[in-house]
Amino acid sequence: MNWEQIRNDFPVAKNTVYFQSAGMSPLPNQVLGSIIKAYTKLNQFGDIHFMEDLIETERLRGVLASMINTEADNINILPNNSFAMSLLALSFKETISTPFNIVSMLDEFPSNTVPYEYKGIKMKYVLPNNSRFSVEDIMATVDENTVAVVTSYVQFSTGFRQDLKKLGILLKQKNILFIVNATQGFPLFKLDVKECNIDVMTCSIHKWGFIGHTGTIFYTSPEFREKFASPIAGWLSIDTGKELIHAGKNEPFSMHSSARRYITGTYNLQTLMGLKTAMDYLNNVGFENITLRLVELGDYLINKLNQAQIQIISPVDNVNERSAIISITLGSELNSRVVSFLETKNIFTSIRSGVIRIAFNIFNNFEDIDKLVDVLSEYKKTN
Ligand SMILES: Cc1ncc(COP(=O)(O)O)c(C=O)c1O
Repeated sequence: MNWEQIRNDFPVAKNTVYFQSAGMSPLPNQVLGSIIKAYTKLNQFGDIHFMEDLIETERLRGVLASMINTEADNINILPNNSFAMSLLALSFKETISTPFNIVSMLDEFPSNTVPYEYKGIKMKYVLPNNSRFSVEDIMATVDENTVAVVTSYVQFSTGFRQDLKKLGILLKQKNILFIVNATQGFPLFKLDVKECNIDVMTCSIHKWGFIGHTGTIFYTSPEFREKFASPIAGWLSIDTGKELIHAGKNEPFSMHSSARRYITGTYNLQTLMGLKTAMDYLNNVGFENITLRLVELGDYLINKLNQAQIQIISPVDNVNERSAIISITLGSELNSRVVSFLETKNIFTSIRSGVIRIAFNIFNNFEDIDKLVDVLSEYKKTN
C-alpha cells in the first residue's frame, strides 16, 4: 500500500498536522470532485436527473450493506445519531407496556443516552474500569427488565473498542436487543452485524467516512422492524406499489417492510453521491490494509508517548481494544492549554472529557506523530 499516495489525496495533510478526525475527517480530493459534479449537474440541469441520482444512491445502500454483511433492504440514512436513537426511544415507548430499562455505558457520547432519558426511559449505566467496559460488567448490569444494551463500538473520549462479537452472543442468549453506535469505529474498523448479532446499528458518517456532515447510516434487522413499528412516517415511507406518490386522504396505506419505511421524505442526494464515492475510496484501500496501518501508527504513537513519559489514558494493552483514538493527559489543569499551544504550532487535537484526544487517520504519517510528540515534550519540560 502506498500511504504517501493516499496522503496526497488529502490537502489537509499539507496544510496542517491533523489529529482531529474523531471530530470530523476531511474530504479526499476524489469525494470533493464527486460532490462538485453532483451540484454542477443540479446547477446546469435542475431536477432533470433526479431519478438517475435516486438510482445511484440506491446503489449506495447496497455498498453500505455489503460493508457490514447485510442486505440493502436493511439500510437507510437518517439525519444523525441523536435522531436515530430518538426514533428507537419512541418505538420502545409505543410498543412496550411493562416496566423496562436500557443498559448503557457511563462514558457514552450523549446522543446515545439523552434521547432515552428525555422519554423517561430508565437507564442503567455501567461504570468504566480503567476506561474499559468489560463484557462481564455489562452482563452483570442487565436484569430481567432490560430491553436493550446501547453501546458505542468505540468510546468517543478514550477510544476503547468494544468486543461486539462476544457481547452480541451473550445478549442474544438473553433475548436482549443489541444497539450499537459505530460512529467512532466504522468504516475504518470492520463491523459485521450478523456475526455480532446486532439488532440496530447507527454510524454518524462525518467522523470517519470522509464525507462531512451527511447523516447516520441506520441498520435495522428485519426481526427488529417486525417487532417495532416505525413511530414516524412520511410520504416515502409508504409502499405505494407502482405509484411514486400516495395521494389518498383518509385511505389506509401500508408502510414499507424494508428500512425504506424510515426514509420519510426527500434528502440531499448530492452529498449521498459523495458518500458513495467515499465508500468506494475506502473499499479500494480495503479494511485489512486500513486496520494494519492504524495499528502501525498507533504502535508508533504509543512508543513515542512512552519514551516522552506522557501519560496515556486510553486502554492500549490489548490491540483488539484499540482504535484510531488515543487520549493522553499532561494534568487536568494543563490539558486545554496544551491543545491551544499545539494549535499555535499548526497541530490539531481536541479536548474531550478533560483529556487530550489524538485521532489519527490513514493520511497521517510517522512525521506527523514526531511533530506532535516533540511539541508535547517541549511543553511538558517548560511547564
Ligand atoms: C460516538 C459518537 N456518536 C455520535 C456522535 C454525533 O452525534 P450526532 O450524530 O447526533 O450529532 C459523536 C460526536 O459528535 C460521537 O462521538
